[in-house]
Amino acid sequence: MTKLTQKEDSAVSHADAPDMQRSDRVSVAGERRGDTARAMEIGDTTVGNVRCADAFVTAEKVNVYYGDNHAIKDVTLEISRSEVIALIGPSGCGKSTFLRCLNRMNDTIESARVTGRITLDGQDIYSKELDPVALRARVGMVFQKPNPFPKSIYDNVAYGPRIHGLAADRSELDAIVHTSLDRAGLLKEVKDRLDEPGTGLSGGQQQRLCIARTIAVNPEVILMDEPCSALDPIATARIEDLMDELSQNYAIVIVTHSMQQAARVSKRVAYFHLGHLVEVDDTDRIFTNPQHKLTEDYITGRIG
Ligand SMILES: Nc1ncnc2c1ncn2[C@@H]1O[C@H](COP(=O)(O)OP(=O)(O)OP(=O)(O)O)[C@@H](O)[C@H]1O
Ligand SMILES: [Mg+2]
Repeated sequence: MTKLTQKEDSAVSHADAPDMQRSDRVSVAGERRGDTARAMEIGDTTVGNVRCADAFVTAEKVNVYYGDNHAIKDVTLEISRSEVIALIGPSGCGKSTFLRCLNRMNDTIESARVTGRITLDGQDIYSKELDPVALRARVGMVFQKPNPFPKSIYDNVAYGPRIHGLAADRSELDAIVHTSLDRAGLLKEVKDRLDEPGTGLSGGQQQRLCIARTIAVNPEVILMDEPCSALDPIATARIEDLMDELSQNYAIVIVTHSMQQAARVSKRVAYFHLGHLVEVDDTDRIFTNPQHKLTEDYITGRIG
């Protein structure tokens, strides 16, 4: 592993490191002095390969601060158009924070400040011209706890298409609602009770309803923050099957604490530690032959 010479006061840029391959070395230097020892232990670069051939979402040297708390440190990562990438790491390492950067959900947290550059299909998502509401339709999000609106099953799914004007008339809206529920694997269970409240469904059904609501607006990326942690193994298996199917059309970024789930659903894994992106690689490699000691310690249960 090529290590960069750490500079105490300034971030090491790619230009400072001519021997660094653009494809796979990223600085996580640029620490304040007090963090230097920790940075050395974590390493000066993200190990593995943060780039991908057909990058659709790119994060370049992203930092997130909550007031004085530096929660994400110089994270660079590319995500392709049709892959499932799993974000793993100990509690508090910044997985949710990084995920929320990708659809500007951190905008809603007053103390949060994001620096660096994030693009979606080449467009800077933090540019002033970009409407965050429109962005969140393109980059949908599913949360840990299913959060259906206090509305009917039909209206939960129709909500997004209505506000974004995706249906010309009622029959088009009906078609979107049915297709979305079908793709989320829920239609059979609810087709005769579309007028009943979404909150009356089981936890696993509610999570699939939230996924149907997310895909109803034709997103390009789906962010999932521990989507199965409140579900039983059967409901989890359904969501995982669904992820597999959706990944043919969407980029899916999933945060999970389950190594088994990451191994089952993802093509690549990104390991975060104390706000640093320590290692990114193909899932098989991360779980069979991780390069970084911290990754190995985490996946073998020594940290976390
Ligand atoms: N809304 C917030 N306001 C202030 N600080 C926050 C906020 N959300 C997260 N943080 C801080 O940012 C850091 C990263 O937190 P984050 O929630 O991203 O971690 P995580 O990896 O998702 O953890 P977990 O696995 O427990 O969900 C932590 O130090 C946390 O205390
Ligand atoms: Mg989290």
